[in-house]
Amino acid sequence: MQFGRTTLSKFVIEHTRGQHSEMGALLIDVAAAVKTISALVGKGALSGYSGVLDSTNVQGEVQKKLDVLTNEALLRHCEWGGQLAGMASEEMDEPYRIPDQYPRGRYLLIFDPLDGSSNSDVNVSVGTIFSILQRETAGDAETADYLQPGDRQIAAGYAIYGPATMLVLTVGSGTHGFTLDRESGNFILTHPDIRVPEDTLEFAINTSNERFWEPPVQRYVAECKAGKTGIRGVDFNMRWIASMVAEVHRILMRGGIFMYPKDNKDPAKPGRLRLMYEANPMAMLIEQAGGAASTGRGRILGQQPESLHQRVPVLLGSKHEVERVERYHHEYDTGADRPFVSPLFAERSLFRSENTNFQ
Ligand code: AHG
Ligand code: MN
Ligand code: MN
Repeated sequence: MQFGRTTLSKFVIEHTRGQHSEMGALLIDVAAAVKTISALVGKGALSGYSGVLDSTNVQGEVQKKLDVLTNEALLRHCEWGGQLAGMASEEMDEPYRIPDQYPRGRYLLIFDPLDGSSNSDVNVSVGTIFSILQRETAGDAETADYLQPGDRQIAAGYAIYGPATMLVLTVGSGTHGFTLDRESGNFILTHPDIRVPEDTLEFAINTSNERFWEPPVQRYVAECKAGKTGIRGVDFNMRWIASMVAEVHRILMRGGIFMYPKDNKDPAKPGRLRLMYEANPMAMLIEQAGGAASTGRGRILGQQPESLHQRVPVLLGSKHEVERVERYHHEYDTGADRPFVSPLFAERSLFRSENTNFQ
């Protein structure tokens, strides 16, 4: 047993002194919710909560029992402390109003209570993602109060429920990882100041959607797959876990690029992931670790949300690769990736030698 190691509570109190000391108390409640969820998902089939419900969420997705239960865990752990003006989540159509018996504060807590929940019945890592914003004054928040660009987040983080449970957090001064010591119940700072390598040879994307992607993403992935035989001149490796938390965690640990780009599978959805409780918190964590996070056409953290459950294309991870995919989008949008072909020499033109019809 080592004493004197930095616990999450110590870290949070030290890093939120002054302007955001009330947020410190909120983060400690979020960590308590995470421990509850960790214990629940860690029971696996023994919890009796596997399987789906009859209900769907606001996005038409079938809710799992665990989606609803983990949402409740966060609400109950965080509603009472007087720091919050409201909460919003993937599993609630409208923002949650703090019950009358509790005091109100100025912070807004937004979360995806169980990310990768399609993996929960197959014993693969899942997670919780959260974002903290603030409104000017304490009091009940309206939907409009939540619609702030990601660069106004005060804090962001995720928990990953894998072989070990970890909480990865930023309060705007680097990205830091804490591992749950199951014996003492403490989160211990094990990964201070995580840095994402700027270069990588590993990409993550759901290639079953390839035919729906835009040409710049098709170009990038084709080049990665061509490896040594293509213009990159080096072999790439691919990973796909289908839990964003697990992909982002791997990228924070050893680099890589994760893409859930815009596709035309369903024209009503400009991407799969949700801006406010998936893309924004992950983008802040990645940027704070020296990586990049983009829609392909702009910084994720610069996007002005128009609705709570809005979707957005996401490319994030090692800086140089994200910049390359952004460049491919720019070249596509400006036509620079399409070499000029004179109409005189095009398929049915006058001067093509194989064109014999005009002789
Ligand atoms: P959620 O379980 O909260 O709905 O999010 C799942 C997300 C994300 O974790 C993952 O990257 C993506 O959905 C996988 O989706 P597909 O398997 O449909 O590509
Ligand atoms: Mn999710
Ligand atoms: Mn979810």
